[in-house]
Amino acid sequence: MDKQITILGFAGSLRKGSYNKALLRAASELLPEEVKLEIFDLEGIPPYNMDLENRMPEKVKEFKAKIRSADALLIATPEHNYSMPGVLKNAIDWASRPYGDNSFDGKPAAVMSASPGMLGGVKAQFHLRQTLVFLNVHPLNRPEVVVTFCGEKIDDKGRVIDDKTREKIKELMETLVTWTKRLKGD
Ligand SMILES: Cc1cc2nc3c(=O)[nH]c(=O)nc-3n(C[C@H](O)[C@H](O)[C@H](O)COP(=O)(O)O)c2cc1C
Repeated sequence: MDKQITILGFAGSLRKGSYNKALLRAASELLPEEVKLEIFDLEGIPPYNMDLENRMPEKVKEFKAKIRSADALLIATPEHNYSMPGVLKNAIDWASRPYGDNSFDGKPAAVMSASPGMLGGVKAQFHLRQTLVFLNVHPLNRPEVVVTFCGEKIDDKGRVIDDKTREKIKELMETLVTWTKRLKGD
């Protein structure tokens, strides 16, 4: 039997009704059998401060440990002013530090975005992907999960109700598992 693959998912939004958190929940319902997805909430990660690097905040230590132990990452990003939200960049900056202890190093990843607008957060994904290059993360290029007009596809209970969106998320998770196994040499 295949070893279980663990994925750590996080969204660049703190709000309870976040559409991007809804994408992560949908992903957890659409996983291949041998996969476990843990969702990590970025709430409580303080603003990055280099002075604290030698006494990392507990929440940052927890985040770094969970990234390290995961086989792969799943990131759902909103778009703020044509980029990823500060909340997400801040969390990524923390977990990339201190110098020489980049928790993301070598991890396979998948990226999704949701926006009520007509471009679905695609520009935020592009900036996020640029940051992932520096962190030596290996993100999937395809399938692209860019959820446009997300208010019509996610209901007020935070459930992804659009079949095509669910299908794309399922495909993304399957591809991420294949990619993760490939990078591990399994
Ligand atoms: C400061 C700010 C800037 C935003 N800029 C954009 C933007 O550039 N493009 C976009 O599609 N939506 C933009 N939005 C709208 C967000 O996509 C929307 O609030 C979305 O629901 C946030 O994701 P969430 O539901 O996961 O919290 C912006 C929202 C905020 C608060």
